Amino acid sequence: MADERLIAALDVSTRAEAEKLVTQLGERVGYYKVGMELFYALGGDIVTWLKGERKKVFLDLKLHDIPNTVGNGICSLLRLRPDILNVHTAGGLRMMKAAAEALHSAAAEADIPCPKLIGVTVLTSMDAEDWAGLGHTEPVADSVLRRAKLAQEAGLDGVVASPAETAEIRRACGEDFLIVTPGIRPAGVSHDDQRRVMTPAGAIRSGASQIVVGRAIYAAEDPRAAAEAVLKEMEAV
Ligand code: C5P
Repeated sequence: MADERLIAALDVSTRAEAEKLVTQLGERVGYYKVGMELFYALGGDIVTWLKGERKKVFLDLKLHDIPNTVGNGICSLLRLRPDILNVHTAGGLRMMKAAAEALHSAAAEADIPCPKLIGVTVLTSMDAEDWAGLGHTEPVADSVLRRAKLAQEAGLDGVVASPAETAEIRRACGEDFLIVTPGIRPAGVSHDDQRRVMTPAGAIRSGASQIVVGRAIYAAEDPRAAAEAVLKEMEAV
């Protein structure tokens, strides 16, 4: 049985690579993240294929535009029947509200279950210096918390945040709020371009609902063994 707390990132650019990884990971991995690399290469077909394989899909396109455009864009994505969709909280309260309202009415009209809608707070690749370089004067963690509260006020179901900020968000936004954490690195694995990282067990302990793991699985010599190690670590918490 798949443990849906693990979302494996399908950060590849061809259908052959995606199918190979999904086949290699087998029944133990039931949730996949399709991001811009694969979606821009293959379009919605890859989501349809994954759903046909009875996998759940987090469609991670981080929509960020004016409220009307994001509201309409998110409804176009609903046709692919993803399980989680996201917008960027940098678009502000009105944009997030427009997205949530448009998605809920479109799902009700189509008489289908509404996907979860979550907001990206601050990319896990950004550190304090990157953040200050954009002109922000409050610490990253404060901005993440501020954005999580705004996302909740806008009617979103949760956020994407680094595991370092998870405990505070959990305290502020409650048990039912989804917190999806990328920036996951098992001990001894390279951090690559990520800056605010934690181990799978650390993320779950700090209150993450789900973790997103990319390179630590798909770039491993044996992706299945790497996924199994992540699952074991989570299950031992
Ligand atoms: O390879 P790695 O595990 O670092 O991949 C993390 C995945 O999570 C990537 O697909 C990246 O786009 C995504 N992500 C992130 N930080 C966010 C939101 C999404 O790293 N705040």
